[in-house]
Amino acid sequence: MATMTLFTFPGFETLAEPLHPYLQQREFQIRRFANGEIFVTIATPFDLSHCILLGSITPPDENLLSLALLAHTLKKDGCKRITALIPYLAYSRQDKQKAGESLATAWTGSILHASGVDTVITIDVHSEHDQALYPMPLMSVSPAGVFAEAARKFGLADATVVAPDHGALQRCRALNNALGRAGVEVPYLSKRRDPSGVKHLEFCGQAAPRVLILDDILDTGATLTSACEMILRNGAKEIVVMVTHGLFTGSDWARLWSLGVSRIFCADTVPLPGSILEDPRITVLPVGSLLREGL
Ligand code: R5P
Repeated sequence: MATMTLFTFPGFETLAEPLHPYLQQREFQIRRFANGEIFVTIATPFDLSHCILLGSITPPDENLLSLALLAHTLKKDGCKRITALIPYLAYSRQDKQKAGESLATAWTGSILHASGVDTVITIDVHSEHDQALYPMPLMSVSPAGVFAEAARKFGLADATVVAPDHGALQRCRALNNALGRAGVEVPYLSKRRDPSGVKHLEFCGQAAPRVLILDDILDTGATLTSACEMILRNGAKEIVVMVTHGLFTGSDWARLWSLGVSRIFCADTVPLPGSILEDPRITVLPVGSLLREGL
């Protein structure tokens, strides 16, 4: 196998640790001119066969453009192949083909591709549909095995996995499979999102007293708080939340605690602030080793 060289963006050092035995690390710097323009420098020489960039594409000015410019710099210098490891693929929620509405999944894919990225590896992409919107291969690795291990460790292996919307059904089935419950029905909630917010309309399936609700993203928490309210109305006595990407934007998501959620599990796909890392009710699950799949 050709030598692979790893470039880790700030905030992703812990996630990179499981990759260190397999990849050579290389320092680089992102600096800015006084007016904010980005400027990339890399210490040379190094092996340019296959460069691996580990980072984020959000917020875009800070991260998407930095990652794209680093990729462009490497390709300009002769790099043969670039793989971007983007554990949380931001903009993947903007994947609907609707006239007059941005299709930002395709937009970010085009920017990365035009900058020299040959392949993107992510964890738990929002929907399979996103892969068709990227102009180059986009591989999504499932965290279901890691989640199942945590569920067993915390005595949740018998909790009913519930999907907060129809789109989450597939990842919930993957978790059931990893728990050895292939084919078990996943109850789900029908959801509508309009300018006034998220509204859950109906609980579809068999209600259960112990619920593990699984989603890809916890952003503001609007989806999960509304889902928990409906699950409680349907007789749940205990709810735990599991999400792949814990964005924890704002403070509304903390209402999950007052609704009786006893624990939130999230993967470490985005850099998390101390307030989250130190909260004993939040369990962060390391998924860095999953990123090796596909390299
Ligand atoms: C939506 O389809 C996603 O899967 C998440 O449910 C949603 O993006 C979470 O966002 P928020 O926490 O702001 O409701």
